Amino acid sequence: MGFDNCGIWFGGDYNPEQWLGRPDILRRDVELFQKAGINEATMGVFSWAALEPEEGQYQFDWLKERLDTLYANGIGTILSTPSGARPRWLARQYPEVLRMNRSFVREHYGERQNHCYTSGIYREKTARINRKLAEAFASHPGVIAWHISNEFGGECCCPLCQEAFQNWLRERYQSIDRLNEAWNNAFWSHTYQSFSQIEPPSPLGDHSLHGLELSWRRFVTDQTTDFMKAEIDALRKGGATQSVTTNFMYNFTGLNYHVLAKELDFISFDNYPLWGKQSDLQIARDCAFWYDVMRSFKKKPFYLMESCPSATNWQSVSKLKKPGLLQAASLQAVAHGSDSVGFFQLRQSRGASEKFHGAVIDQYGGEDTRVFGEVCALGATLKKLAPLAGARTKASCAVVFDWENRWALENAAGPRNKGLYHVESVQKHYLALRKLGINVDLIDMEDDLSGYEVLALPMLYMLRCGMEEKIRSFIARGGVCVMTCWSGVVDEDDLCHLGGRPHGLMDVFGLRAEEIDALYDGETNEARICFEAAGRKMEHPEKNQEQQGQSRVYTCYNLCDLVKPMEGTVIRGTYGK
Ligand code: GLA
Ligand code: ZN
Repeated sequence: MGFDNCGIWFGGDYNPEQWLGRPDILRRDVELFQKAGINEATMGVFSWAALEPEEGQYQFDWLKERLDTLYANGIGTILSTPSGARPRWLARQYPEVLRMNRSFVREHYGERQNHCYTSGIYREKTARINRKLAEAFASHPGVIAWHISNEFGGECCCPLCQEAFQNWLRERYQSIDRLNEAWNNAFWSHTYQSFSQIEPPSPLGDHSLHGLELSWRRFVTDQTTDFMKAEIDALRKGGATQSVTTNFMYNFTGLNYHVLAKELDFISFDNYPLWGKQSDLQIARDCAFWYDVMRSFKKKPFYLMESCPSATNWQSVSKLKKPGLLQAASLQAVAHGSDSVGFFQLRQSRGASEKFHGAVIDQYGGEDTRVFGEVCALGATLKKLAPLAGARTKASCAVVFDWENRWALENAAGPRNKGLYHVESVQKHYLALRKLGINVDLIDMEDDLSGYEVLALPMLYMLRCGMEEKIRSFIARGGVCVMTCWSGVVDEDDLCHLGGRPHGLMDVFGLRAEEIDALYDGETNEARICFEAAGRKMEHPEKNQEQQGQSRVYTCYNLCDLVKPMEGTVIRGTYGK
């Protein structure tokens, strides 16, 4: 990948198109980047209007000048494709590139990252400029990688997308009868007669048909991935050989990132933690988790593309990083597998919605600022850490954190519609292992389980990809497995399994989950767990508590499965109430 020989990349988003009338500032940028030890700039993310001001008229000179100058000063460029924000002329001439929302209303031109992923015209225009960029810059020694678009997300319900969705469904289900069965459409007389009747989920139409919602989310992921692949193809056709990446967001559920990850050479991550809102330790634990999620997609180093050197301006309260935190927070990312520290942004804008977003160089413009000083100190540290670039993490334990399972769980209309705490539950398992100093991968159900000794399965509501069998053979070869409540409930189409849960695993775990009790907010139960029972049958662990001093009482919240043990199952704990 593009990290080779670069040590750790240090830099971030740089938008010189906002300063083309200020050569003095462009000169000063390079001086200051060098002082800070910056060795990478991401350019072109939102430059389409500057690169193609009129349809078919390209102006790449300014970009070439920046690439040349940065390169001459030892700074590499991650060159971005500009599809994240289109020029006004494009939307005006070709309104089909604009999205329709779930009420089937066409949006106006505005903002960014809101184009239709199906539009043939948008794909054509994007491919053309990507190819031109690659033809112009693929052989430039300063180009170290390509960044595809920006923060893919959202959906479009236009007629083109509806038709693509219907085709996607036809391919998946083959016949409308099979689809009706898989979604249980006999319920409320919702049987479809043909694929052409199917609309995206909408507040005006179907919005509680779980099979539809799940399929729509899968389709949106596939369509976005297909769009991204078309972008990459165009770069390759233009001669680009560098690695490609795109930036993933924190806790973003709109797209199954595992699917996008397969098409990328390395993963990039944008992270804007709310330092100071909770204890530093809590925030750091949350960051550790998300860094490990990013590392686990490809089980190799990722790129921290965006972080803030000081304060953002879009959080409800945008707090400064206190002195020293920049270095600590950035090194945490590196320790968890990032081969970079990237900032949004290198130079602060003068106007529009991000004019108060923190930057390496602020509007004052001098180098004698606290933030610039801290950036320089970090640059010096990262230089010393260069030999760590490329280091891999070997994890013996994995926690399953599966996007599709999360979609199904959160949309289920089940025991708690307000706060299932699925992510928190995943994080608890992750942290329990991390506290023991163990490396942990966060994987989905498509992942290979060989190589792991311990597997945690928090709230595996949906089992897919033959997970029952995978778990069974994992245990057969000596693996240790931990499963929680509300597991093994539905199949890949969100149809409930008949015959008891966890489906296909009742004999493996020695129990059948029969009922589930939802607790009100603030309500608790107790779990009395006895640790002395290993290998022995403990029918009444609470009676042994004093005798053995090995029982502990834990507090239960939110959901309590009521399970029936099978003959011979060792019971380690019971509910207090
Ligand atoms: C996102 C975007 C950037 C910028 C930052 C601000 O992550 O990718 O373009 O808007 O947020 O924090
Ligand atoms: Zn569309």
